[in-house]
Amino acid sequence: MTTQQREMDREIFDLLGIGIAPFNLGLAALSEPIDGFNCLFLDAKTSFDWHPGMLLKSSRLQTPFMSDLVTMADPTSRYSYLNFAKKTGRLYPFYIRENFFLPRHEYNLYCQWVSQQLSNLKFGFKVTQVDYNAGESIYRVTGFDRRSGKTHTYQCRKLVLGTGTEPYLPKDCPIQDARVMHTASYMQQKTYLQSQSAITVIGSGQSAAEVFYDLLQDIDTYGYQLNWMTRSARFYPLEYTKLTLEMTSPDYVDYFHELTPEKRCALIASQKSLYKGINAELINDIYDLLYQKRLIADFQCQLMTNVALTRIQTDPDALKLHFQHQEQNAPLSQTTGAVVLGTGYHYRLPQFIKDIKQQIEFDDAGQLAVQRDYSIDIRGDIFVQNVGLHTHGVSSPDLGMGCYRNGIILKAVLGYAPYHIEEHIAFQTFDPAKLANHQPCGANAINTLNLNPKHFPKTSPHSNNADASPHLYPTQTPTSSMSAGAGTKMSVLMAPNKEAQ
Ligand SMILES: Cc1cc2nc3c(=O)[nH]c(=O)nc-3n(C[C@H](O)[C@H](O)[C@H](O)COP(=O)(O)OP(=O)(O)OC[C@H]3O[C@@H](n4cnc5c(N)ncnc54)[C@H](O)[C@@H]3O)c2cc1C
Ligand SMILES: NC(=O)c1ccc[n+]([C@@H]2O[C@H](COP(=O)([O-])OP(=O)(O)OC[C@H]3O[C@@H](n4cnc5c(N)ncnc54)[C@H](OP(=O)(O)O)[C@@H]3O)[C@@H](O)[C@H]2O)c1
Repeated sequence: MTTQQREMDREIFDLLGIGIAPFNLGLAALSEPIDGFNCLFLDAKTSFDWHPGMLLKSSRLQTPFMSDLVTMADPTSRYSYLNFAKKTGRLYPFYIRENFFLPRHEYNLYCQWVSQQLSNLKFGFKVTQVDYNAGESIYRVTGFDRRSGKTHTYQCRKLVLGTGTEPYLPKDCPIQDARVMHTASYMQQKTYLQSQSAITVIGSGQSAAEVFYDLLQDIDTYGYQLNWMTRSARFYPLEYTKLTLEMTSPDYVDYFHELTPEKRCALIASQKSLYKGINAELINDIYDLLYQKRLIADFQCQLMTNVALTRIQTDPDALKLHFQHQEQNAPLSQTTGAVVLGTGYHYRLPQFIKDIKQQIEFDDAGQLAVQRDYSIDIRGDIFVQNVGLHTHGVSSPDLGMGCYRNGIILKAVLGYAPYHIEEHIAFQTFDPAKLANHQPCGANAINTLNLNPKHFPKTSPHSNNADASPHLYPTQTPTSSMSAGAGTKMSVLMAPNKEAQ
């Protein structure tokens, strides 16, 4: 055991993140420059890899490049996509390309680049248990370290669960049969799939649409029959008009969180096209490809909406898929060689928190009662990423809102906001009770802002040069757990007129 490892073992981290995917990786990148803030992030994987089973060549992000790990909290961060592009010689090609939407492969490379520079990450560590020492107010996080082959325990004061969602399989779908798979492992199974005489893709979210489009390109080369069946009432697009995009905003999160659980539940069910649909461009590409393929040769393709998969019968020579038609309430079946379930992802509370479950708060429906600051426990010590569709609304899985959530989590943990957190960005008002207090939507025009340079911070929050404007970085005094060692960098974050707060 190295001296560094021994010191780490004795250490009590201010914050420990479990899972290193976009949301916790962003939190790690935003935490790293904060002096004296001691945190560590753990992931079971041996290195960063973002949904590898869905890294199709043609796929792109659904959100603009500013939805990187840091930009929306700190555009000056060295971990921004633009800095990655600069450092890897891609900035001019990106500029000339004039496209805000990065290929998903490039986004993965960018995240890997960030992960290689951060010193607060530990990969190859699967967390198996978390318990709480009430006497010392410390959480003990135990897991298996793949590198050492041993179990190990870390200690911390705050936890952020960034363990993501799991592929959802409708019941009676035996994934253990090699012919049945989820889109999450599509790339690994594509060669096998293309050896089948018939393939059925289930679901009509972005994943299923991308897989269908990918398989359709080769339909004449391999000669398979390709079916696309979904429960959705139609192949609907992801809504991407600007006033609707304002629902991905702090304003809407505030409004949504204040509604009753029943109202929120009904709203989320009615807002599917805001977070589940297919990129409109891809729907059109699919149609055009179907049209082109038919000009060249006959092919066998079946598309059907309104059909819920209820059971997969695994006969030795073929799969029999049983469906229920949603509008006609009638059963139907289809025979196929292999099936790809693009049925989405669900959140499941990680097993490792069973020993502290009594500290976690749930609503009457048994769902996590996620507080406005993303904490889920009675003490406000444990935070979650990407969980609150039912509490915080459609922006929960959105990469573009990751920085906002991380800003709020950091503020709750530190007791002050190291990055400015926007409150009102929307032109529209969601909450009628706020109509009277809201600034009219034309306020804050650029020519009414005071652009005198002395009113802007000369440096980013992680530089040593303290000159932050209280307007741009409203802050509070650091908490006691942070005060030790919180040196010059943190002082940047303190408003110069601190006594006025
Ligand atoms: C194919 C795909 C593409 C998407 N594209 C976009 C997009 O373009 N724009 C957008 O806004 N949203 C997109 N999303 C939605 C969402 O933003 C992503 O799913 C995103 O990856 C969520 O990140 P996450 O941090 O919640 O965790 P995940 O990416 O789900 O990862 C969770 C991590 O936790 C780790 N982990 C789990 N359990 C443990 C444990 N016990 N111990 C240690 N580690 C553990 C896992 O190894 C994993 O690395 C996409 C989703 C999918 C499926
Ligand atoms: N390129 C990208 O950026 C990209 C790629 C993939 C995914 N994503 C994102 O990742 C998230 C998950 O997307 P996803 O496509 O994996 O899942 P999803 O959006 O949740 O879609 C699941 C689909 O499966 C259908 N379904 C569920 N159960 C079914 C059943 N029993 N029978 C038939 N159909 C069934 C659903 O129908 P209902 O409509 O009835 O629920 C829906 O059409 C989304 O936020 C998406 O935007 C992004």
